[in-house]
Amino acid sequence: MGELAPAKPKVMKNIVAGNWKSNKLMPEALELMNEVQAGLDSIQNTEVIIAPPSPYLAALAENKKGALAISAQQCSATGMGAHTGEHTAEMLKSTGAEWVIIGHSERRERFGESNEAVRSKLELALEAGLHVLLCCGESLSNRESGNHFDWVQSQLEDALQNVSDQAFDQVVIAYEPIWAIGTGKTASSDQAQEMHAFIRNWLSKRYGDVSAAACRILYGGSCKPSNADELFAQPDVNGGLIGGASLNAEDFLAIVRAAEAQD
Ligand code: 13P
Repeated sequence: MGELAPAKPKVMKNIVAGNWKSNKLMPEALELMNEVQAGLDSIQNTEVIIAPPSPYLAALAENKKGALAISAQQCSATGMGAHTGEHTAEMLKSTGAEWVIIGHSERRERFGESNEAVRSKLELALEAGLHVLLCCGESLSNRESGNHFDWVQSQLEDALQNVSDQAFDQVVIAYEPIWAIGTGKTASSDQAQEMHAFIRNWLSKRYGDVSAAACRILYGGSCKPSNADELFAQPDVNGGLIGGASLNAEDFLAIVRAAEAQD
């Protein structure tokens, strides 16, 4: 793996982001957001983001209070025009969303999102002024064959090939091993740290030590209150992208507090 870049300076805030996926009806989404907001008063050092389904973005953005940020779960690979059913990055931004998740493995695997589509979405999102949570992560077979570092590196190389140093400031990486998503099987804190350090080292070669050190790298995959502390304590883990546990305010807030408790 070569020499590792220094872990990020502690001035960077951790991020805890809840990916609600295709869950909740509109009133339930509002209720969940309100419950989450009610628990954030004492949170100073952690950025908290929720990613509700797209139809709810505008209403949630309008009703949110405080520092909670809203994210879309994906955007179109095209700009404005005759693309029935697609939501462009600019449209999402105009709802009040500030973030978008790009390249989630569920989109890659179930909706045939190619590396090229991921690249296009990432670039359009950055052009629209959205911050991006860029997902990467290997399948179980990739890990078992020892190919996981190469796999993740090629996903990042591909997605970021045209992203300038300046634009990269708007990107957060989410490492989500596919075998850990929704399975209850979490990467061990050592496995997470090893991959996060590898990613930071690669970023350091691509964007330089300062940008690499400043980039938040989140862990996702069955992160829950019982394991968040240990995962977030790793030097290169800067918070989490949370699926199932983000659907319950109490669990999600416990994970936020675990991020907040790190120095
Ligand atoms: P789970 O936390 O449900 O494993 O999902 C992780 C994820 O896919 C977040 O984007």
